[in-house]
Amino acid sequence: MARGRGGAIPFAAALLVAFVCSRPGADAAVKELRVGYYAETCPDAEAIVRDAVARAREREARSVASVMRLQFHDCFVNGCDGSVLMDATPTMAGEKEALSNINSLRSFEVVDEIKEKLEERCPGVVSCADIIVIAARDAVALTGGPNWDVRLGREDSLTASQEDSDRIMPSPRANASALVRLFAGYNLSVTDLVALSGSHSIGKARCFSIVFRLYNQSGSGRPDPHMSPAYRSALDALCPHGGDENVTGGMDATPLVFDNQYFKDLVRLRGFLNSDQTLFSDNNAGTRRVVKQFSKSQDAFFRAFAEGMIKMGEQQNPKKGEIRRNCRVANGSPPVVASKVVDF
Ligand code: HEM
Ligand SMILES: *[C@@H]1O[C@H](CO)[C@@H](O)[C@H](O)[C@H]1NC(C)=O
Ligand SMILES: *[C@@H]1O[C@H](CO)[C@@H](O)[C@H](O)[C@H]1NC(C)=O
Ligand SMILES: *[C@@H]1O[C@H](CO)[C@@H](O)[C@H](O)[C@H]1NC(C)=O
Ligand SMILES: *[C@@H]1O[C@H](CO)[C@@H](O)[C@H](O)[C@H]1NC(C)=O
Repeated sequence: MARGRGGAIPFAAALLVAFVCSRPGADAAVKELRVGYYAETCPDAEAIVRDAVARAREREARSVASVMRLQFHDCFVNGCDGSVLMDATPTMAGEKEALSNINSLRSFEVVDEIKEKLEERCPGVVSCADIIVIAARDAVALTGGPNWDVRLGREDSLTASQEDSDRIMPSPRANASALVRLFAGYNLSVTDLVALSGSHSIGKARCFSIVFRLYNQSGSGRPDPHMSPAYRSALDALCPHGGDENVTGGMDATPLVFDNQYFKDLVRLRGFLNSDQTLFSDNNAGTRRVVKQFSKSQDAFFRAFAEGMIKMGEQQNPKKGEIRRNCRVANGSPPVVASKVVDF
């Protein structure tokens, strides 16, 4: 899965340009997000989301990790605008089919369920983009992680872009220096990058995402040397060469609990993805110091994680948006008969 990733135009920079160039009357606008945004228009919104996320977790423990991941994949591609939720149409390739998302992003039905409840209670008020940000916060809190106030008031995009997702989203092969550079384009620091990668404390990844490092790291025909021998044997058994690449494994030793185990594992060369292990094993990116710090202090990790999620959640799409009635389609689109994207 070679990925041609050119130099991503840092979205924060594009946002700044759009902001500076927008004049009164132009439709581009950076919205003021605030805590309690729906207090008058939909006072139960946050409670409805939390209940639904809790119920989804009872049905399937992993689903909360899958929902939390949506924030990253939404916010990095043209801002937190719910674009990742849109189904493809005959004239628009969706982000769901992008390299990092296809056969991988999941639990869209949890967002659908939340949206249906919110449309019943307060039609046309709560954006899909905000649902993702609230649900991600709740997913972390419900699995033992920190809780934080979410600033709301985002609008949903009218379009999605598979191309932008393919250009921007990082590969599991990425090294720490490339990740530092990518995140810096969003004004996210080395500490933000390491903390946000700690999201891999919950959820699972496919063998598809690690077979290259088990059997042919950087085209060497050899495994990645930055793996403890015992862990490498375990991964070889989980993901044998030529085996089923849809098999999944936890990205730390406690994939149902949001904790700092992920960082303890990286220090012991038990990182699942190359993009995880590189944060500790790359000497020159400045990430190792932070991994060590978080491996020793769960409090420090939790504080930095909440801050990172809030900052990541501020990435905005300056284009004019709407409050979608159905998170999968723009309001102006003809009705869909059935969803073509199957969650698995
Ligand atoms: C730093 C760069 C990152 C890379 C390269 C990366 C890559 C990946 C990959 C390859 C997977 C597994 C996909 C699969 O095998 O199907 C994954 C899963 C996941 N990622 Fe990331 N990720 C990154 C950052 C983040 C961030 C910032 C978040 C959220 C704040 C996040 C949340 C998750 C979660 C929760 C899962 C598990 C999802 C599930 O179980 O369904 N990741 N990531
Ligand atoms: C990290 O990855 C980038 C992009 O793939 C590459 O240009 C660079 O040489 C790599 N750096 C190291 C230290 O391997
Ligand atoms: C970038 O991040 C820093 C540190 O969090 C913050 O003080 C600053 O306001 C941010 N700048 C922009 C343009 O968002
Ligand atoms: C390993 O990767 C390199 C470069 O990507 C490729 O040329 C080579 O055929 C691969 N080897 C195996 C055994 O897959
Ligand atoms: C993995 O799952 C996807 C989606 O269900 C499927 O299209 C693909 O063929 C599967 N791959 C393998 C190797 O089974």
